[in-house]
Amino acid sequence: MKVSVTTIALKELDVDMMVVPCSEDHREKLATSLKALEDDGVNRALEDFTGKKGEAVVAYPSELNSRRLVLVGVDSDPENEFEHLRDSAARGASTCHDLKVETAAIVVPSYLDNAEMSAQALVEGFVLGSYRFDRYRTNSSSSFKGTQRLVVHSSSNDKAARKGADRGRIVAESVITARDLVNTSPDEKTPVLLAKAIERSGEKYGYTVSVWDKALIEDEKMGGLLAVNRGSMDPPTFSILEWQPDNAVNSKPVVLVGKGVVFDTGGLSLKPTKDSMDAMKSDMAGAAAVIGAMEGVARLNLPLHVVALIPATDNRPGENAYVPGDVVKMHSGKTVEVLNTDAEGRMILADALSYASTYNPELVIDLATLTGAAVVALGKFVGAVMTNRTDGFESRVADMVTAGERSGDRVHPLPLFNKYGEDIKSNVADIKNVGSRAAGSITAGKFLEHFVDYPWIHLDIAGPSFLLSADSYRSVGGTGFGVRLLLDYLRTYSNPKKK
Ligand code: BES
Ligand code: ZN
Ligand code: ZN
Repeated sequence: MKVSVTTIALKELDVDMMVVPCSEDHREKLATSLKALEDDGVNRALEDFTGKKGEAVVAYPSELNSRRLVLVGVDSDPENEFEHLRDSAARGASTCHDLKVETAAIVVPSYLDNAEMSAQALVEGFVLGSYRFDRYRTNSSSSFKGTQRLVVHSSSNDKAARKGADRGRIVAESVITARDLVNTSPDEKTPVLLAKAIERSGEKYGYTVSVWDKALIEDEKMGGLLAVNRGSMDPPTFSILEWQPDNAVNSKPVVLVGKGVVFDTGGLSLKPTKDSMDAMKSDMAGAAAVIGAMEGVARLNLPLHVVALIPATDNRPGENAYVPGDVVKMHSGKTVEVLNTDAEGRMILADALSYASTYNPELVIDLATLTGAAVVALGKFVGAVMTNRTDGFESRVADMVTAGERSGDRVHPLPLFNKYGEDIKSNVADIKNVGSRAAGSITAGKFLEHFVDYPWIHLDIAGPSFLLSADSYRSVGGTGFGVRLLLDYLRTYSNPKKK
């Protein structure tokens, strides 16, 4: 979608639909300013409009250049202000979609004091709310291709609004990259095909990519990744993405790691199909979020040296598949007793995390659809954040939580107390790959902690990365969860003044 910013008089805005967000608290002020337009249609719509969240009242103006206008409500709860803007913009986008609107404008409410962040949130909500994944649909009976152009109208600070709108567009497009990858049919994103998609992305946005094939992965002795891959017909890949600008503020890189299980059947510990295996094309949502975030980092030109690692394979019960009881020697040299082949994510992440050490990283952040227990604990809209107890661990988590609040990709902390580690002691190897049912997300985190020797943040995104029905600007299917979180976190990280 093309996004631009304008300050021209509302009356002059020549679009198919003008979206006007407003909360209950500011309805009177809005009414006063819209009445000045002396338009019958708009005035009548105002009579029906209260400003409540979720509300949308369409008007057909006679005195404006705009063909239509829609008043959309904004939740006036002061907590989570930007999220409410995203929601209202998504409401506007859905009306635009229903009415097959090609060009739209969105008015930044003048009562908001942060024009930059407000414009960013509105553009994110509108662009993400307009997203539809229809690559595979053949019955394109309608010629409507979705809203093509969005004009952001700012009456106060157009410079700030332009900055925010540009950033919002780039962030939303990065989220869409992740959504598209998750929604792609599993047979079109085998590890080799996924790596090719990463190479194309790197070429397009100017970061470097190198892809290891199976032989190189064997040379590196990535025993965890190779064990999971044993049941598969398709070889694994290990992709390394790097953004290293001359003006980087960090001398040691930040390393991102994304779980790239392109399909998780559970392996021999096979998953039941219904409500379990059927959404497992999304088991590479961590990888997708990391790829989207790298695009965003490059496009926003962040002054930060960032490396991203993506171990990719599917997990299948093939003839040679790894079995419960197998003891695997990992990349780090540690041994793991496999007691459930469905706990495969931690096997491949462990190798990527121990390889991350070779970069002498300042910080490593992994994203993974790791445990069903995270969905039980936090639901479908919030991810889990965990960290090891090295210097500054409390602020590390606090900053991630704050980035979640601001970006809308919310996360909540879970502890990594050592006591939990007892659950993954093995009778035959250094550790085993499953604990008991208790605290499943935490024991998975404790497992990964065995493979890190640097400051580390683990994000379990099993819940929010994939939805069975749309929720506001979060589309059905892949949501791209984690992209906005990482971009907000890394942008603040590279500019501590902005904290
Ligand atoms: N990919 C799953 C986790 C998952 C579950 C993601 C639901 C998204 C939605 C992971 O590989 C898995 O199967 N985890 C097991 C671990 C268990 C065997 C210790 C789980 O959570 O059941
Ligand atoms: Zn699994
Ligand atoms: Zn999995």
